[in-house]
Amino acid sequence: MYNISVIGTGYVGLVTGACLADFGHKVICMDSNSQKIKELKDGNIPIYEPGLFEVVERNVLYQRLSFTDDISYAVKNSDVIFIAVGTPQGDDDRADMSQYICCINDIANNLDGSKIVVNKSTVPVGTGRKAQDFFDEKANGDESKKVRVVSNPEFLREGSAVYDFTHQDRVVLGGDSHEAIGVLKEIYRVLYLNETPFITTNFETAELIKYSTNSFLAMKISFINEIANLCDKVGANVQVVAKALGQDGRISPKFLHAGAGYGGSCFPKDTRALVAIGEDYNSSLNIIKTVIYTNERQKALMAEKILHEYEDIKDKKICILGLTFKPNTDDIRESPSITIIKRLIDEGAKISATDPEGIENFKSFFKGTNYENDIEFFKDEYEAIDGSYGIVIATQWNQYRMLDFNRISKVVNRKILFDLRNIYRRDDIENQGYEYIGVGQ
Ligand code: UDX
Repeated sequence: MYNISVIGTGYVGLVTGACLADFGHKVICMDSNSQKIKELKDGNIPIYEPGLFEVVERNVLYQRLSFTDDISYAVKNSDVIFIAVGTPQGDDDRADMSQYICCINDIANNLDGSKIVVNKSTVPVGTGRKAQDFFDEKANGDESKKVRVVSNPEFLREGSAVYDFTHQDRVVLGGDSHEAIGVLKEIYRVLYLNETPFITTNFETAELIKYSTNSFLAMKISFINEIANLCDKVGANVQVVAKALGQDGRISPKFLHAGAGYGGSCFPKDTRALVAIGEDYNSSLNIIKTVIYTNERQKALMAEKILHEYEDIKDKKICILGLTFKPNTDDIRESPSITIIKRLIDEGAKISATDPEGIENFKSFFKGTNYENDIEFFKDEYEAIDGSYGIVIATQWNQYRMLDFNRISKVVNRKILFDLRNIYRRDDIENQGYEYIGVGQ
């Protein structure tokens, strides 16, 4: 059992803290946002993440998991400190490191003994080594203030983060200290016993593995989206192409679903940050630049696909099913729905929008903008569809996979379905008397 603290209670920090407590460690989750900590102490989880509530509740009950807004308390009561603060995209596409820098200063100023600091946050290549140098300088040879840094990037997906934590494809540990890496292996003993592969390497490699993984996956998506667009032109079916591609063992079937483009907190930010890192080292990442361009264009093309079907969309109500960047999350960051809705409103359309979890975040995003008054939100998808001139599936939430078209047919003004996630079969929809527009089918 290790005494651990996790700084930052976003989805990475909270999932990491709760799951490490579930592994049997004593974990303090720390966040400078006192309101968030108060909520957590009251048993409220500030993010929507399936399964997380149960893990948090169980470990609080067994007194393995606690919460604080006091960094000094967190540092002094732990031997291993995981940093999981946000490193959002800065103005120049580079990661904004202000929270991270603040965090390592806070740790250094509260040291009461030797510690291991683990970088979970996605940080630019070179950060682990810089942090190690920073702590070495501060300790100035004093062994009782010695900090050993380990880079341990996370690969959790929103919506399945708890499952992903316990079913990691690999654990990456980067750093100079074999001893500290050994401690991390012990902390992840449960995974080790389950034969999860461990990759131990230097800081730079570990940091680059994170950016390369996300960029490679983003590349697969942009690749299949470009093929989908070509399929539309030549009369091919992208789903069959993707299936055949995936059956080639060298390619793998995952991340080959054509759609409205990727969004979220990681792929857009990490691809841009990797390009910026390449620029810093005069090493141009042309493929990733194209991936970014293709993805932006894909979102825009979705709006054009819709507009193409209307002679005049002015004052016509278009229903958008799904606002989050993917199902099982309330995260709307870089969601294709944002691009699509803005473009449709710019052309005069009225939007009725629905989402099981994302409405509040979407409302706040558009609050105070010119678009705000042209979007009406509904909790129920059938209410949102009522009176519409077109239905757009923008996120593949399960409840949109089994729509009752008989019921819908009685209330729509035009029978047309834009299936931007390819969740229906063209024949099935056309047989119900609808026009069907998919992506690459
Ligand atoms: C991603 C990585 O998967 C995860 O390892 C990392 O830690 C954080 O970034 P996440 O952003 O939660 O996770 O979502 P993910 O499920 O990977 O999907 C990312 C985006 O790609 C979504 O917008 C999704 O709709 C899109 N996508 C995914 C596709 O368009 N097609 C696919 O085949 C797969």
